[in-house]
Amino acid sequence: MSRSAHPAGPRYADVLPEGHYVAPPADLNELDPRVWSRTVARGADGVVTVGGMDVKRLAEEFGTPAYFLDEDDFRARCRAWRDAFGPDADVFYAGKAFLSRAVVRWLHEEDLNLDVCSGGELLTALDAGMPAGRIALHGNNKSTDEITRAVEAGVGRIVVDSFQEIVRVAHIAERLGKRQGVLIRVTVGVEAHTHEFIATAHEDQKFGLPLAGGQAAEAVRRALKLDGLELLGIHSHIGSQIFDTSGFEVAAHRVVGLLKQIRDEHGVELPEIDLGGGLGIAYTADDDPSEPHEIATALREIVTRECAAAGLSVPRISVEPGRAIVGPTAFTLYEVGTTKELPGLRTYVSVDGGMSDNIRTALYDADYSVALVSRASTAEAMLSRVVGKHCESGDIVVRDAFLPADVAPGDLLAVPATGAYCRSMASNYNHALRPPVVAVRDGQARVIVRRETEEDLLRLDVG
Ligand code: LLP
Repeated sequence: MSRSAHPAGPRYADVLPEGHYVAPPADLNELDPRVWSRTVARGADGVVTVGGMDVKRLAEEFGTPAYFLDEDDFRARCRAWRDAFGPDADVFYAGKAFLSRAVVRWLHEEDLNLDVCSGGELLTALDAGMPAGRIALHGNNKSTDEITRAVEAGVGRIVVDSFQEIVRVAHIAERLGKRQGVLIRVTVGVEAHTHEFIATAHEDQKFGLPLAGGQAAEAVRRALKLDGLELLGIHSHIGSQIFDTSGFEVAAHRVVGLLKQIRDEHGVELPEIDLGGGLGIAYTADDDPSEPHEIATALREIVTRECAAAGLSVPRISVEPGRAIVGPTAFTLYEVGTTKELPGLRTYVSVDGGMSDNIRTALYDADYSVALVSRASTAEAMLSRVVGKHCESGDIVVRDAFLPADVAPGDLLAVPATGAYCRSMASNYNHALRPPVVAVRDGQARVIVRRETEEDLLRLDVG
């Protein structure tokens, strides 16, 4: 689909502001492989299947709204990242994108490491059997309790984010008679081209210690003096949903510059650099993300070149993809409750979820795609806005989408690419019950996170 001046065509397309027009696909029944997970297909009867299971059956068995996660696709993406980076690098899946015990087991089986950023994520990781040495703990304000639990468990690394935390982690480790592996998170001063709320490498923000002005170098000085810490390396994460690899290259260049400075000042070559996550995915067919091997090649080349120029041995590289692994592997299945055609404007299609299961449209103005999946249709394309059932007009799931004009109550719609930051950012707004996550593989479906119940809601309400 390309954004362009629109021809006279689908109903009400002309209400879109210039530049926002998205041409409807020639065939609304077609599922673009750029945005749907690998095993999704439309059967001869018009019903869409995932992992060999038809969505009408899935809706009957598990209800709607629900997230359906294509396990084969998830595992394939883990392997693609691991193979792209090879044995001399580490891939840490960023658990904040979506974490459950089943996911932890898949990661373990596929030989990935895990990045957690709270006590809750740490608990899930350990409970599901991820070896502590393969876990990294992140966060700009980890509590003493979180740090203590991580050090006690023996996590491989803690990414420290402030001067106070350097001392805090060192004291806790010393008290426990341990030496804790740490990386220092730095901000490299890159303006990542993404939404302001998810850009993290410019200096004016809460994460990391800036390279510019010397705070990062000062953090290294302090960390090297503390017995409780083993300084393993430097960490940088420039932001999220990024398509242009040049930001990562600039970050790698600056991080290697700091390694050189550390070698010159302290005579120490730090063995690791972590270049964070952030690689974008396709939410609509307009998005053109890089593949893991492209980013791996680009990062390896720049780090090798810069290290050679600085006379440093090449450090072990790690990366922390979250969205790029889990994002494309799931879709959210909704049932249409009502439709409202506003003549000359658009049709509002209300589904049984909304901003409680996907806050990204409201929060980041994110674009999504949508398809009618319970049947095929030959009706004309109709400009639609898929909205939720919450009490605000900003409760939009898909802002501008073409759906067949005969979409009606009872139809099932699916929104692809909702594996990352949807269930993990879901809320109980309006006392909505958070939907389940159902893993689908080889004709089998199993709940990996169950739907919340009204009892769950009342259990917390103890007044
Ligand atoms: N590493 C660190 C230190 C991070 O802070 C993050 C994401 C990642 C890795 C993983 O980034 P990814 O590969 O998933 O882009 N809620 C927002 C995204 C926030 C990302 C926070 N940090 C969204 O829905 O777009």
